[in-house]
Amino acid sequence: MNYRHAFHAGNFADVLKHAVLCLCLERLNAKPAPYRIIDTHAGVGSYDLGGEEAERSPEWREAVGRLWVAGGGAPPDVISALAPYMTQLHRLNPDGALRVYPGSPQLAALMMREQDALRLCELHPETCVRLKETIGRDRRVRIEERNGFDALAAYLPPPERRGLVLVDPPFEEIASGRKADFDRMIVSAKKAVRRWPGGIYLFWRPLKDLEAVEDFDGRMATVLIEEMGVAADKLLVVDLWVRAPGPGPLAGAGLLICNPPFGLEEKLRALLPWLAQALDQTPAGSGISEAGWRVVSAVPEPEGA
Ligand SMILES: C[S@@+](CC[C@H](N)C(=O)[O-])C[C@H]1O[C@@H](n2cnc3c(N)ncnc32)[C@H](O)[C@@H]1O
Repeated sequence: MNYRHAFHAGNFADVLKHAVLCLCLERLNAKPAPYRIIDTHAGVGSYDLGGEEAERSPEWREAVGRLWVAGGGAPPDVISALAPYMTQLHRLNPDGALRVYPGSPQLAALMMREQDALRLCELHPETCVRLKETIGRDRRVRIEERNGFDALAAYLPPPERRGLVLVDPPFEEIASGRKADFDRMIVSAKKAVRRWPGGIYLFWRPLKDLEAVEDFDGRMATVLIEEMGVAADKLLVVDLWVRAPGPGPLAGAGLLICNPPFGLEEKLRALLPWLAQALDQTPAGSGISEAGWRVVSAVPEPEGA
């Protein structure tokens, strides 16, 4: 377990994941009934963009850093799609300089109401201590130092019967060619959706090995649609790439979403073309842009499934 999210906080993958998370929470906030957020791979919760780790790998400068500067000039439908996310960034950075970047736990805590609950798992002991320092005193929050994949089923269904699950593993094995987190995600998705078919689920995955991603999406579609009875139009994939995806440094990532809230797809279709252009990292001299996006509803099952 060597992964440290501080090196990547605020990069393009975080921007997409966190913008989607905030759009989902905005929808949940539209009704007064309480809900619960379960974040199986929480990280430290909040990041200092001037800190040593962020400085050593300033991925955020080319992503949330650009958004911080350019976001205000975006067309109205883009501003509207980014609003729940940008509002939280502005709350944390009120003097206009971007220094604090919220992880998913802090974004959740900022957006949820008094009546809502947040359950967090973080397996790395030191990271978990820092997470508790960041957010542990909030009485709406419970943090466990345990394996989020294993814990998930035990949290479901939540007593509120409304809410969201974020599954955001580090995919460390990708570097060595193994893809264990894809398989773990499918196993825990199956158990979770069986116990709580009505939840909103966000499954994050990197776009590195595109065949592996296609295989994962297809297997998830088979499990969720055929085995769990989820309607095909309740699956949505959103992907963003800032350079040509492939092996090497992360150039693309996205989410497979089960039970997306009403209106999410439309917001993403408005946001993604602008975001891909704004966060484009095509190497100089390439001529044509390598950045791109896709929003796919009713994820196809693999052939012969
Ligand atoms: C990608 S980061 C999470 C980022 C966070 N969700 C966010 O958006 O701000 C993944 C985290 O999962 C932790 N982790 C790795 N394996 C885990 C497991 N099996 N269960 C829970 N946490 C795990 C890592 O220590 C790391 O902090």
